[in-house]
Amino acid sequence: MKKILAIAAALALSLSAMADEGMWMLPLLQKMNIKAMKDLGCQLSASDIYKINGSSLKDAVVHFGGGCTGELISKEGLLVTNHHCGYGSIQMLSTPKANYLEDGFWAMTREQEIPVPGLTVTFLESMTDATPAMTKAYEKAIKDYKNSDNIGELAEKARQEAAKQLRDKIAQDNPGCEVDIVNFYNQNVAYIIVTKVYKDVRFVGAPPASLGKFGGETDNWMWPRHTCDFSMFRVYADKKNNPAEYSPLNVPYKAKTALKINLSGVSNRDFTMVMGYPGRTQRFQTADQLEAMMEQYGIAVKARTVRQAVMKEGMESDPAIRLQYASKYASSSNGWKKWQGEQLAFKKLGIIPRERQKEAEFTAWVGQDARRQAKYGKALSQISEGVKGQRQAYADLYTLVESVSRIAPVGFVSTFGQAYSEAASGADSLKASEKAVEAVLAQMKDYNEPLEKKIAVAMLQFYRDNARPEVYLEGLGEDFATMDFKAYVDKLFAESAFTSPEKVKTLLGKRPGDCSDDPAMKLAEAMAARWSELSAPIRASRPLIAEGSKAFTAGLMEWKKDEPSYPDANSTMRLTYGQVMSYSPKDGVIYKHYTTLKGVMEKEDPSNYEFRVPALLKGLYDNKIFGQYADADGNIPTCFITNNDITGGNSGSPVLNAKGELVGLAFDGNWESMSSDVMFEPDLQRCICVDIRYVLFIVDKFGGAGHLLNEMTIVKK
Ligand code: ARG
Repeated sequence: MKKILAIAAALALSLSAMADEGMWMLPLLQKMNIKAMKDLGCQLSASDIYKINGSSLKDAVVHFGGGCTGELISKEGLLVTNHHCGYGSIQMLSTPKANYLEDGFWAMTREQEIPVPGLTVTFLESMTDATPAMTKAYEKAIKDYKNSDNIGELAEKARQEAAKQLRDKIAQDNPGCEVDIVNFYNQNVAYIIVTKVYKDVRFVGAPPASLGKFGGETDNWMWPRHTCDFSMFRVYADKKNNPAEYSPLNVPYKAKTALKINLSGVSNRDFTMVMGYPGRTQRFQTADQLEAMMEQYGIAVKARTVRQAVMKEGMESDPAIRLQYASKYASSSNGWKKWQGEQLAFKKLGIIPRERQKEAEFTAWVGQDARRQAKYGKALSQISEGVKGQRQAYADLYTLVESVSRIAPVGFVSTFGQAYSEAASGADSLKASEKAVEAVLAQMKDYNEPLEKKIAVAMLQFYRDNARPEVYLEGLGEDFATMDFKAYVDKLFAESAFTSPEKVKTLLGKRPGDCSDDPAMKLAEAMAARWSELSAPIRASRPLIAEGSKAFTAGLMEWKKDEPSYPDANSTMRLTYGQVMSYSPKDGVIYKHYTTLKGVMEKEDPSNYEFRVPALLKGLYDNKIFGQYADADGNIPTCFITNNDITGGNSGSPVLNAKGELVGLAFDGNWESMSSDVMFEPDLQRCICVDIRYVLFIVDKFGGAGHLLNEMTIVKK
């Protein structure tokens, strides 16, 4: 009986897991997924989605700024991504007088589109399996290192050498492209990834933060949601449609593929798929690794609670400070809330015990035959030993990184040093110094001295209260255990050159080495000394963990070889398919699969910055000026949820219907499944999306930028 139950449970698990779990690799869709996708309603072929020669959907999906996803919605390079992905750029372009973050912005002509220095958009040209080539090159390289005694380091060296050779060869055949060798499945599989990186990207428009970030930190990571989380940019190219640095002579990029937009909306259980660039997951980590990770999250949460409280007080006291700190605060708080949710979900869903159970079953399977024993038998204990070797150092390092390294002048010192050494290789030292000063001045745009003094005191205090006395800072001229941080910080800010734009300018002509008496430099050096000391045991354990993880992952793949499999997210393009789906967050409660503008009005609270509703939107709502964007019930749909398997980095990803048309943008995950980076939860895990009809309603009726719709291909059925 027990056995039958176990088989039934395993079957149920694999069936429900197959329906929605998975961040699939595009070149393997044909082999692994297309049949299941079609069974769910997909009307596309694998080559409609991904092909190397000729255009396919993948040509419309881009890596936006390295950390998000965007998609082309016109042949003229217009792209849409999340508001929170454009946030840093929009903030950077804003001033208290032209506050695009607060007030929103729409370019009414191409000339009004604003270049964003430093922003890139990356197109995927191709990805091809390089595992055999890498293995061969690696085996050859490893022969040359026979006399070395550290097999882990040696393996790494050989791997890098093999990768370099392969990369150089492919790069020759693909001029104008970047070539990377990327590892999957913990070094068991390698792919050559060829991309094109466009560097002239211009801001086209966004709603005001009251809509783009409606619900603020309170609603972040939560459903039901009403955030209009989108912004638009345009990719520019040279006359030959190739990447080029910004130039007024550049022209809009001519897209190989632009997504069609479908305005007919989604119903519960409709097929959806999401393509994008998920950043990191930990689905192949062991319970020991996960425990260590939770410990690190705990430290980060504790430090950020302190720092964010100080930031928030400053932001609430002055709109100029709010603008300066908006992006920093949002990204700090996003991680802070995520990790707390993850800690809660770990407990509630029993993640660690479930992982231990899986490892026990794996070990039993390995034990069944001698060949498996030889290949995988040591893996778990290697990882365990490696984690043990790193654990204290990581806890110490996190304590340092989340406190002392966040002190502004310490950051300026490191920017100065970095910019100097980057420039120094080509230029003379005066030029390098100019560049370094420039870089610090740019960073100081978002710097408020009185607020940073408070943060500095709070962070030093945090480090004293939370670090082990063995790793207290040395070389500050006083005993860290007893020094008066307020007096120290006052003096540092008064005497250091790294504390105001005026004083930074006095660094012109200086090299980082000329500033060794500067108190901020001294603090940065005291921190760096501890940092490198703590990195040593971490580095030492890495090869052992890498070897164990490689074997463990290979073992898991062999154990489950009859099921389709996908590797951990690693910022390469993936596809996840599933359905629009409501869920039950707790006993007695069912969450619908969508929200509407009515909910925005219900949540409105003029006294709360996070829940303000612009008068213009209320007017449109009261007078039902909804144009072509209302649903069958006469409401404006705002957000919906699917069971697609996404994570950070997928933000901005296109949510596509069965025909591959754009119906929404993925922008968040939900509170009940915050452990999703580690384990997929079929019943609870949802992908939160903004409905494309809400997006276009805001562009058109609210923003008055309806002209942009002329570039798009819009279908209504
Ligand atoms: N939770 C979202 C993600 O990680 C980011 C949302 C940003 N919004 C915010 N209120 N901080 O993709």
